[in-house]
Amino acid sequence: MATKRKKVKSDASASRAKESKDLFIGIDLGTNHTAISTSDGKKKSILSIVGTPRDAVASKFLKKERLYGDEALKHRVALNLFKPIESGLLKNQREDLDAARGLLEFVLNSVDVNRDVKKYAIIGVPSQASVLNKKIITEMAGGFFDGVMVASEPFCVAYNLEELEHSLIVDIGAGTTDLCRVHGTIPDPDDQISSNKAGDFIDKELVRLISDEYTNVRVTTEMAKKWKEQSSFVGEPEEEIVVDVPVDSSILKLSITREVKNASESIIPDIMSGISKLISTYDPDFQEDLRNNIWLAGGGSLIKNLDVVLEKELELIDGGSVKIAKDPVFGGAEGALKLAMDMPPEFWQTA
Ligand SMILES: Nc1ncnc2c1ncn2[C@@H]1O[C@H](COP(=O)(O)OP(=O)(O)OP(=O)(O)O)[C@@H](O)[C@H]1O
Ligand SMILES: [Mg+2]
Repeated sequence: MATKRKKVKSDASASRAKESKDLFIGIDLGTNHTAISTSDGKKKSILSIVGTPRDAVASKFLKKERLYGDEALKHRVALNLFKPIESGLLKNQREDLDAARGLLEFVLNSVDVNRDVKKYAIIGVPSQASVLNKKIITEMAGGFFDGVMVASEPFCVAYNLEELEHSLIVDIGAGTTDLCRVHGTIPDPDDQISSNKAGDFIDKELVRLISDEYTNVRVTTEMAKKWKEQSSFVGEPEEEIVVDVPVDSSILKLSITREVKNASESIIPDIMSGISKLISTYDPDFQEDLRNNIWLAGGGSLIKNLDVVLEKELELIDGGSVKIAKDPVFGGAEGALKLAMDMPPEFWQTA
């Protein structure tokens, strides 16, 4: 019954958006990637990286003062690279704010946002930024839209899943793991817990563990990130993980199964303490619903077996059920878009 009601609402907002000439936009401004979805059906995801030429020669050769996403990564040797969002927060330096504004403009241009219509956007950001950086982000983005609101990424994910009552989203990104309890309203700061143990932390742990085990090899975080994305897992290994590492002029084959397991599992204690805190401080009448409605989202939800191992850990505190949200790349942006389309027109007068 509840599902049906929600669906009707979404259909109604979708048709209202179709009839309207206004354009609604959902953006997920993450540490690792920025994704955009629009009400006229466009979607795009880029890496959240900005590069400026290192010197006058680089500037002349690249013919641009700023490069974004994959293009910046491709020319990285000639650039100073920035990540405008780090550890879940928008950095406050002028340079970083300018870079973030440029990144936003670039992603809007990449889906060819028509300049002559009214544009209303919801921007999903890591939950700490949604509390601490809300004002700067709203001001920074205000120039591009006729109405804009900042929401926390995990809430946008819940909105996309249509899991708005008694759900707990665990969004494992690059800079932060954000846990958010959703109960039918926009979440309060008390509903959100953030840990800086997420994808970037696993990469660093993997470098450290491999360097401790094999003292003669040099492993970079980029190599570790690639291996993690190919084979990360928690719990029991299904197969041995062997990688090629260049040493002097030859290639060495290293077995890194244990290191990948330990690095991947390094984020579990913070996730479990966050889940346990959000359940135990919830209305006792609904704690059972909450613990049976836990969702993993973000790139880190692709770590093999994480749902199973978390359910096992939950057995120690009365049990629970963990599911994996679909679409780690666009889930947040799609949720922000649905939310923007569902907002009543009056809302945008004050947004
Ligand atoms: N198959 C995979 N297995 C494990 N980790 C992965 C996989 N694919 C991507 N990741 C990791 O997920 C992280 C990126 O996740 P996501 O794109 O959700 O981050 P983000 O939303 O940009 O970051 P944040 O939410 O911290 O701002 C990176 O650390 C990436 O290496
Ligand atoms: Mg994210």
